[in-house]
Formats: sequence, C-alpha cells, structure tokens
Amino acid sequence: MNNKQNPFLIKGYKSAELFCDREEEVQKLYKHAQNGIDTTLISPRRMGKTGLIFRFFDFLKADNNFKSVYVDIYPARSLADFIKLLSEAILRQFPENTTIGQRFFNIIKGLRPLISYDSISGEPQLQITYQTEGEKQQTLQGLLHFLDSQDTEIVLAIDEFQQIASFPEKNIEALLRTYIQQLKNTRFIFCGSRKDMMTEMFSSAKRPFFASTQYLSLDKIGRNIYAGFIIKTFKNNNITIEPEALDFILNWTKGYTFYTQSVCNTAFLLADEIVDLDIVKKSCAELLKSNEAAFFQYRKLLTPAQWEVLIAMAKEGEVSQITSKNFIGKYHVGTPADVRRIVKALLNKELLLETLTKSGGYYQVYDVFLSRWLEKEY
Ligand SMILES: Nc1ncnc2c1ncn2[C@@H]1O[C@H](COP(=O)(O)OP(=O)(O)O)[C@@H](O)[C@H]1O
Ligand SMILES: [Mg+2]
Repeated sequence: MNNKQNPFLIKGYKSAELFCDREEEVQKLYKHAQNGIDTTLISPRRMGKTGLIFRFFDFLKADNNFKSVYVDIYPARSLADFIKLLSEAILRQFPENTTIGQRFFNIIKGLRPLISYDSISGEPQLQITYQTEGEKQQTLQGLLHFLDSQDTEIVLAIDEFQQIASFPEKNIEALLRTYIQQLKNTRFIFCGSRKDMMTEMFSSAKRPFFASTQYLSLDKIGRNIYAGFIIKTFKNNNITIEPEALDFILNWTKGYTFYTQSVCNTAFLLADEIVDLDIVKKSCAELLKSNEAAFFQYRKLLTPAQWEVLIAMAKEGEVSQITSKNFIGKYHVGTPADVRRIVKALLNKELLLETLTKSGGYYQVYDVFLSRWLEKEY
C-alpha cells in the first residue's frame, strides 16, 4: 500500500511533470493567442480539454504579454449565472491586492453586490441583483470590456460553453458575439464536449458565431507516448510497471485519458515496488465496483430495450453499422427502425458516443467503465 502523493491525477491540473504530452495542442493554442485567433476546443468528455487549458495557462505564465482567465459555466442556468461565474473567475485570477484586481473590485462594487467568502477556499462569491434585463447585458459588456482594457492581452477560456444554448434568454449567442467583436485584446477559447451542439453553434451559417473561430479537436493521447509517460511516472516513484501490465491498462481503457489515469492512480495505491498484471486487474475490478451504484441507476432510468442495445454495444466494442443484420441478428435488439430510435435516445443521454471518421464512423458506449462492466456482467 502506497501512502505517497499520487502522481496520476484524476482531477484538475498540477504541473507539466504530471501532465502527459499535448505539446502540439499547447503550441497551437499559443499560435492562436499570438495571432488573434479564437479557438473552439472540442472532444468527448474526459479526454482532457480542461486539463489542456490549465496546461496551456501554465505554459503562458512564461509570457508576460498574456494573462489568463478560466471560467467553467457548467453550473450556469441563465445569463445572471454566467455573469456571476465570470466575475468570480476574474476575482480568482486577479485578487484584490493586485492592480487589476483592485480596479476590478471597484467596478464590481458599483454593481452593489453581496460579497461573501467561501468558508473553505476563501474565494469571493458574488450575488448581484439586477433591476432590468438591460442592466444584466450592460454588466456582461462591462466585464468583457474591463478584461479587454488591461495592459496585457487576455486569454479567456469558457469551459462547457454549450451550456449557453440552454439559457432561457433567447439572444445570448448574438449578444455575446456582438460584445466579443468589440474587443481588441482578448482571445477566447470556447470549450465543449457536445460536438453536435458546438459544431452547430460555430459552423452553421445561421448562427452568430459562424466561422468566427478555428477548431481544435482533442484526440486520444498516442499509445506510445502515454506508455512512456506511465513508465516514467511510476519510475519517478521507484515503481516498475511490467510490460504486460502496461499493455493491459492501455487496452482496457481504450487509451482514454481519464480512465487510463484512474487505473494508474489505483494501481499506484496498491503497488509497492512493482505493478504487475495482477495489480492492474485488481485495480480495474475495484474501479468497476466503486462505480456500480451509478450503473444500476442508469439501468433504472432506461427502458429494457435501451439497456439491451447498450449491452450489445459494450460487447461489440465499436459498431459502425447499427442496422446491419450482423449486429441486429446477433443481439436480437429489434427492427432497424427500433435500433435507430434507441441509438438516438442513448446518444442524447450521452450514454453512447458517436465518432466520425473518414470512412464513416462508429458508435461505442460513452463511459469506458460502464462499457467494461456491461461486458463482464452480461
Ligand atoms: N495530458 C494529460 N496527462 C495526464 N492527465 C490528464 C491529461 N489530460 C487530462 N488529464 C486528467 O484526466 C482527467 C480528465 O481530463 P479533463 O481535462 O477533465 O477532461 P475533459 O475536460 O475533456 O472532460 C483529469 O483528471 C485530468 O487531470
Ligand atoms: Mg472539462
């Protein structure tokens, strides 16, 4: 049993040393920032988008021309929430005792907010009340304008950006686009995991953000690169991982970042000096066990037919022809029309993932743990 600080992060970002690769992506984001290009960053959940943003911001610290702000709008349900989260993000990045922070605090005070401080993190929390819709819009414009008028360039990353599509206010996209167009020194990274929603927003000629950014699609980390990182990271902690154990991890997690990190994290906990196949298999089993309650919950929320399709997908691994005789016949999952309808519903619930490729594309169970669990249990 290992009591040392676990070097395999399954949350957040710590340092370049504990972060695997993404050098090209960091350089691309840097090039965009230097050339005034906004970026749309897309990948399935848990691939490493948020990690990449933090890695990039860490890299950017060496360049005095830039300052960075990160806001995760996943919890936002309205424009007011969005403004609140953005203000708090700015305050976090530029505390009151910095020049920018001082200026920002003065602006914020003009909004007569209730300011409280989180009892654990000590971070400021704002509660702003607005008299009118117009006041809200002005506040948003004011915040962006404030960022834009500093003596450095700003990179503002908005994580889970697709969330704005669900705000009750109808004109948010147009409003934001208009305000953003007025800025001179602020580069945006719009980040999201709903590929359909993000590409619709940025590639449909009918939408305000049409063709306003360049895409960066985050893919799996290359197998050899990840393998090298895992060996090195264990080695730095005086642990040797055996080749077949390493192979097993990368196959079992299908190379997806979060799952690979998770298995390595658990294996690190269980290991003394050596990570062998036995420890890795034990780690995988433990992870499935600890996620089981959530899997039972999914089953409860799905129809039996949906559950059957999910099991069939897990057993196949990847399915490119969902209505083929091969798939339908093998698993008795109904008519082609049934399967099409069910797959659509499961995609919507983010239980299935569709990956498009040159030759068409394929479906798979979104959550790798769920996929491995279904494979094993049914
Ligand atoms: N390049 C990387 N090297 C090591 N760990 C990573 C890397 N990218 C992401 N992670 C870890 O993987 C997990 C999922 O990544 P995250 O950035 O949250 O994914 P996303 O934002 O795409 O959902 C996090 O725990 C993060 O610490
Ligand atoms: Mg994320």
